[in-house]
Amino acid sequence: MKLSNSATVLLAAVFLTPAYSAPMAMQSRGSMATSTSHSGDGTFYQPALGACGKKNASHDLIVAVSHAVFDSYPGANPSNPNKNPICGKKLRATYGTKSVVVTVEDRCVGCATGDLDFTSTGFGKLASLDKGRIHAVRWQWV
Ligand SMILES: *[C@@H]1O[C@H](CO)[C@@H](O)[C@H](O)[C@H]1NC(C)=O
Repeated sequence: MKLSNSATVLLAAVFLTPAYSAPMAMQSRGSMATSTSHSGDGTFYQPALGACGKKNASHDLIVAVSHAVFDSYPGANPSNPNKNPICGKKLRATYGTKSVVVTVEDRCVGCATGDLDFTSTGFGKLASLDKGRIHAVRWQWV
């Protein structure tokens, strides 16, 4: 009797937990839904020939998204990243009261899911370059 009661409680917990956590999962870091807001760290790098096949420079407002976001984008072609439909998409990144619109031209291998790797010009629109890395950058597709 005691055993079956605890088994019931255990089952209830197993079945109820996903239902209660679902709304939070929707807002989780790096969610793939295009309408949701993503968030992660912001960094900057010196671009060259990017994964999208374009040569860009530090003054270009391009961005590298994480390999996770890049590779899971609908229509991503693993054998030819240049043809990934994510290439050329614009996103608005917001940090505090500042924001910048940048175009995806590259894939960041060292980025966690929601992270963005900007050019120095792009990063500079959000924060001083001295910071190097900023946290809680929110972004969404535009
Ligand atoms: C990136 O470089 C290409 C040429 O290689 C250029 O056409 C494009 O405008 C650049 N992107 C941005 C956002 O400046």
